[in-house]
Amino acid sequence: MHWNTSPTIAVPIETRIPVSALTPVRPRRDDGFVRDRLGRVIHDLRISVTDRCNFRCTYCMPRDKFGRDHAFLSRDDLLSFEEIVRVARVAVGLGVRKVRLTGGEPLLRRELHRLVEMLRAIPGIELALTTNGALLSRHASALRQAGLDRVTVSLDALDDATFRRMNDVDFPVADVLRGIDAAADAGFTDTKINMVVRRGVNDGGIVDMARYFRGSGHVLRFIEFMDVGLTNDWRLDQVVPADEVIRRIHAEFPLVPVQAHYRGEVAERWQYVDGAGEIGVIAAVTQAFCQDCTRLRLSPEGKLFTCLFAGSGHDLRTRLRSGADDDAISAWMASVWSARQDRYSELRGQNTAPQDKIEMSYIGG
Ligand code: GTP
Ligand code: 5AD
Ligand code: SF4
Ligand code: SF4
Repeated sequence: MHWNTSPTIAVPIETRIPVSALTPVRPRRDDGFVRDRLGRVIHDLRISVTDRCNFRCTYCMPRDKFGRDHAFLSRDDLLSFEEIVRVARVAVGLGVRKVRLTGGEPLLRRELHRLVEMLRAIPGIELALTTNGALLSRHASALRQAGLDRVTVSLDALDDATFRRMNDVDFPVADVLRGIDAAADAGFTDTKINMVVRRGVNDGGIVDMARYFRGSGHVLRFIEFMDVGLTNDWRLDQVVPADEVIRRIHAEFPLVPVQAHYRGEVAERWQYVDGAGEIGVIAAVTQAFCQDCTRLRLSPEGKLFTCLFAGSGHDLRTRLRSGADDDAISAWMASVWSARQDRYSELRGQNTAPQDKIEMSYIGG
């Protein structure tokens, strides 16, 4: 059978409010959206609230050769909740409609539900969280009450030994599964489960994962192992192409492609023919999606990153703390976005790739 793993059909982004209705000062085109040099608007703001994590997933936060952790940011370096909310508010004025909290592990940031509550007061945004699930049973209910819309849980294996090996801190998979159930009990729907697939490490569990989450209402997504950061030992032969993931699952549980929810959606969607729900594949290596990349990233200490693979960020914290008003912050953020021409995944393997790259554990995927 010939496989076409591109069900994505460009759909208009008609739900967005032109930013001209919201903020006056910014570079703009006639349609009112702030666009980068490749014509891309801003839709998602991904906020990393801490670079710390209680896991040490080897593809994300490897230890050094002496088994030591990376040096982490100190608490004084972090943006306060008030500062984060101010940035989000300004970003909404520039077109952002989805805010995702991430890390490191965001649930390690104290009182995270308070930040959720504060962000919730901004009208017109979807509010999501990416977590490793270890602390989810403890926090699910407070997060829901604070107004969080959705959670995404990273889960690389159901097999306990494989899971413990991959998180590198011997954390049991049962506790994460309990966290996922706790989220459902707390009222979360549309929960997503993200599995990074690494050949020879956890790819033997692809079909088991599909079987486990079929019919659960959760959307399982398979992510191609990426060459993020400088220390994750990435090798192309460890990438399991999304096409292969789909083929393997389809052989057991037939699938059909589904249209994207919106232009720029990271995952390609597939549905089980028998109605047992939906899965997704994130083909960040084999089918780069830079041309529709509408994501702006904020680091824990207040730097803006315009690409997951950027070598350096743009210092927003100094501006926030120097008395600049919201219009000035907005104009500066718009100018950062307007100058953007990142498309690392499309250029991967060419000599134009940057030498320096931030770590995934710091910027949060
Ligand atoms: P949904 O709203 O739930 O669809 O969120 P999402 O898919 O935008 O975000 P999520 O954090 O679940 O993204 C899943 C994974 O896709 C991340 O952990 C990354 O591994 C990868 N990813 C997300 N955004 C990008 C991106 O801009 N570039 C690349 N190369 N990979 C990305
Ligand atoms: N390749 C692909 N996805 C990764 N993530 C972290 N490191 C990688 C990588 N090397 C994803 C995981 C994690 C999220 C924050 O980013 O799904 O949960
Ligand atoms: Fe693992 Fe996510 Fe923590 Fe990275 S941030 S070590 S992927 S749990
Ligand atoms: Fe966006 Fe950079 Fe990822 Fe391309 S590589 S999709 S530009 S974050």
